[in-house]
Formats: sequence, structure tokens, C-alpha cells
Amino acid sequence: MSTKEAPDAWLAEDPLPAEPVPIVERWLNQAFQTRGQENPHAVALATVDPDGRPSVRIVLCNHIDTERGAFTMYTNRSSRKGRAIAHEPRAAIVFHWPGRQARVEGRVAPTSDAVSDAYFATRPLEARLGAWASQQSEPIESRDQLLDAVRSVQDRFGATREADPVPRPPHWGGLELTAEAVELWVGRVGRVHDRAIWRRRTVGAPWTTTRLQP
Ligand SMILES: Cc1cc2nc3c(=O)[nH]c(=O)nc-3n(C[C@H](O)[C@H](O)[C@H](O)COP(=O)(O)O)c2cc1C
Repeated sequence: MSTKEAPDAWLAEDPLPAEPVPIVERWLNQAFQTRGQENPHAVALATVDPDGRPSVRIVLCNHIDTERGAFTMYTNRSSRKGRAIAHEPRAAIVFHWPGRQARVEGRVAPTSDAVSDAYFATRPLEARLGAWASQQSEPIESRDQLLDAVRSVQDRFGATREADPVPRPPHWGGLELTAEAVELWVGRVGRVHDRAIWRRRTVGAPWTTTRLQP
């Protein structure tokens, strides 16, 4: 994999900045500006299943709370990842943007009903219907059966236009990962990359910063 020189390779500076999460947000915004990627919100989300097996999948990290250092993803909480997190409420995510990587590890908690409702209401109609129709991670006989399930949800709610309301399914909502560790990586020329990790014990506690060898 080639690594492009990031537009601002400030991670070269000492001392390192005190707060990592605003940097992650800035990198996300810059990834939208440079259009280097189809979906800059995409993260790999790793969880541990009840039997101790790791699993990973791509989800969208739709919100970053820079004050609290928290990252929100939305999903079906009865899915494989949802069950894993209910059992072991810790997770890791990683963003990859051209020349940059941001890794976040910490504890996960469901977002409030109000937060989940507000985000659900912003989703396109098809996504709102699909959230009811899909028992995410469960087997299904055929694609036709899935499309039938979408049609019956549509009939149930009488929702055919974008503006038509569809309530949020009780199993669907946000998962908020509150960072205990944030590691940033910037690709540099000559492969002498910049890499540093920030760690803290709880929200509000100061971050300790450590530069790491690439
Ligand atoms: C670009 C992309 C974005 C995705 N975004 C989400 C998402 O925001 N939420 C979600 O539940 N699944 C999302 N998925 C699907 C997941 O990768 C995964 O297939 C699904 O959540 C079921 O995972 P699980 O069985 O491990 O729970 C996305 C997939 C891709 C490729």
C-alpha cells in the first residue's frame, strides 16, 4: 500500500498536542475536502464475541463528540456486533484516510432513545424501512424474502414518500465508543512515519501522550 504525504504532517512537532480527538475530527473534515475516499465516515469496528473470538466489520462513525472524546455508530443492537458489545462493552475502531490512520479504543454504551430517534429520523425512507425489515446478522432463505419483508413494513407504516414518518425500531440505535486510547499515524516520505498514542483513564482526565516508533 502506498502512503501519500499528508497535507499537514504536524505530528512531526514536539511536544505533541494535548488533545487527540479534535485532530481526528479535523482529519475527517479534511478527508471530505480532499475527496480521497468514497466515505470518510467509514471505520472498521472490532468487537469480541462471548467466546472470546474477535470480529470486525465496516460501519459509519456518524458523530464525533470532541468535548467528551466519544464516537457514535448506528446499528441493529441485536446483530452479531450488538450482541458482542452487550456481552463485552469494549470496542476498537480505525479510520483510514489517505496517508493517515486514527485508531480509537474504549468502552461502548448505547446512546439515549432521544439521540437514536433524532438520527433515525434523518435517514432515507429505504434505510428506515430496512431497519425494521432486516433481522441483521440472521440467516434468510432468499433475497425475495427480504424484499417481501421490506414491502410488508412499508404497508404496515403506510410509508411511501421520504416525508412519511417511520418510528425507530426498538432494536436499532447508536453505540457510543468513549475513547480511552487514541493513536494517530501520519505517513511520511521515506517511510519514517509519525505515530503517537494518547491514553486517559476516564472522560475529563488529562491525556498522556507517547510518541511511538512507526
Ligand atoms: C461502507 C459500509 C458502511 C456500513 N455502515 C454500516 C453502519 O453504519 N451500520 C451497520 O450496522 N452496518 C453497516 N455496514 C454493514 C456492516 O459492515 C455489517 O455487514 C453489518 O453491520 C452486520 O455486521 P455484524 O453481523 O458483525 O453485526 C456497512 C458496510 C459498509 C461496507
